[in-house]
Amino acid sequence: MADLRVNLGGIKAPNPFWLASAPPTNTGDQVMRAFDAGWGGAVWKTLGEPVVNVWSRYSSVDYGGQRMMGLNNIELITDRPLAVNLREIAEVKKRYPKQALVVSLMVESKREAWHTIVKQAEDAGADGLELNFGCPHGMSERGMGSAVGQVPDYTCQITEWVKEVARTPVIVKLTPNVTDVRYVARAAVRGGADAVSLINTINSVTSIDLDTFAPRPTVAGLSSHGGYCGPAVKPIALNMVAEIARDAECDTIPISGIGGISTWRDAAEFILLGATSVQVCTAVMHYGFRIVEDMLDGLSNYLDEKGLATLDELRGRSVQRVRDWKELDLNYVVRAEIAQEKCIGCGLCYTACNDGAHQAIGARRDERRGRTEVWVKEDDCVGCNLCSLVCPVMGCITMRAIETGHGKVTWEDHQGGRGKLAPRPQDRHH
Ligand SMILES: Cc1cc2nc3c(=O)[nH]c(=O)nc-3n(C[C@H](O)[C@H](O)[C@H](O)COP(=O)(O)O)c2cc1C
Ligand code: SF4
Ligand code: SF4
Repeated sequence: MADLRVNLGGIKAPNPFWLASAPPTNTGDQVMRAFDAGWGGAVWKTLGEPVVNVWSRYSSVDYGGQRMMGLNNIELITDRPLAVNLREIAEVKKRYPKQALVVSLMVESKREAWHTIVKQAEDAGADGLELNFGCPHGMSERGMGSAVGQVPDYTCQITEWVKEVARTPVIVKLTPNVTDVRYVARAAVRGGADAVSLINTINSVTSIDLDTFAPRPTVAGLSSHGGYCGPAVKPIALNMVAEIARDAECDTIPISGIGGISTWRDAAEFILLGATSVQVCTAVMHYGFRIVEDMLDGLSNYLDEKGLATLDELRGRSVQRVRDWKELDLNYVVRAEIAQEKCIGCGLCYTACNDGAHQAIGARRDERRGRTEVWVKEDDCVGCNLCSLVCPVMGCITMRAIETGHGKVTWEDHQGGRGKLAPRPQDRHH
């Protein structure tokens, strides 16, 4: 059986599955039940100055029968007294010495305030600290959270203050609410961070009640932008993790991947893009702590199947496969192929290609069989994949690579006059 142990910048855990700082890590009782269920680590709900929350806090986007495809919240950091949190942290650490217990922190942007909270969290027994520079609502209006994480100089400065006194590894949690996450990641590296975690939630307004005109979640008729998370945000998170993992100034910083992780497959994708551990919030809020059982089994079986003994052997194996567009091969030709024996004649591929792509699928009504017959006009197909994405029968439309006899030519080659392009459908239409 594969070894799932991880070490994130000096924070050791029996497996990569950690709870993200959020409601599931609000109390010692919850964290202990999570560890009993198998979670390898937990990031405690963010500690800071006492806050007061509004009552109505979450809203969601359901999609195609999936509830909470995206979750939005306007909740702040912990609203429990600091002394109670610290006592419970100490208790959990004493009872669960092997699991990683990271404490998330957010205080005013003052050196003394950061020094004090770091000492308190470490004295309570934290294995590591996570600096919450990501919360996009409420706290940011008070100059904390994403107000720090959106400005590289602030990120660097506060990380430095923390590193002046921290005895345990420091993770900087990044906000996705920036145009280019690499600038803040680089600032965290300059400030001395031992790891980065991402993503925190994305600015969002999930929906408007069409009867009352009030946005959700509604607080006495009003709302505020919230933070979006859950399965809907995974592609955005994967991209940001990849951006950091392949950046020359950050490519050695350990990463804890967060955003829309619900299954071992999601976790494996983050690990392939360079994450050491992963953190989960929405999926646990939806289905509870026990989802980790399938995650552990699934990841372990996957490593066995791939003949890999440790997660180190899996980590980062897709990083080099994410490239700038200009490095892609313009002569890699694929075309759609329809397995007629699987086709149910719904005609969706025809409509999609005809109206939304390149008019490369032919269709004819077969009255005798009461269905639509479809075929690919090979010379017109640009291999965009759309028909294979809309087809409701898995494996019915596949994309087949075509040997053109032309070698690899990138955009840079093409610009430099090197290599010859394989013929394209549009050439024939000129
Ligand atoms: C209700 C709620 C409260 C959250 N509170 C915090 C918090 O206090 N500190 C923090 O760093 N992140 C907080 N988050 C963000 C999560 O830790 C995580 O970054 C985000 O939800 C993305 O992960 P997910 O897609 O698995 O939910 C919160 C998220 C939710 C939904
Ligand atoms: S791959 Fe694109 S162009 Fe080709 S048949 Fe499908 S939808 Fe049409
Ligand atoms: S979408 Fe798929 S099932 Fe429907 S007609 Fe096209 S190939 Fe057949």
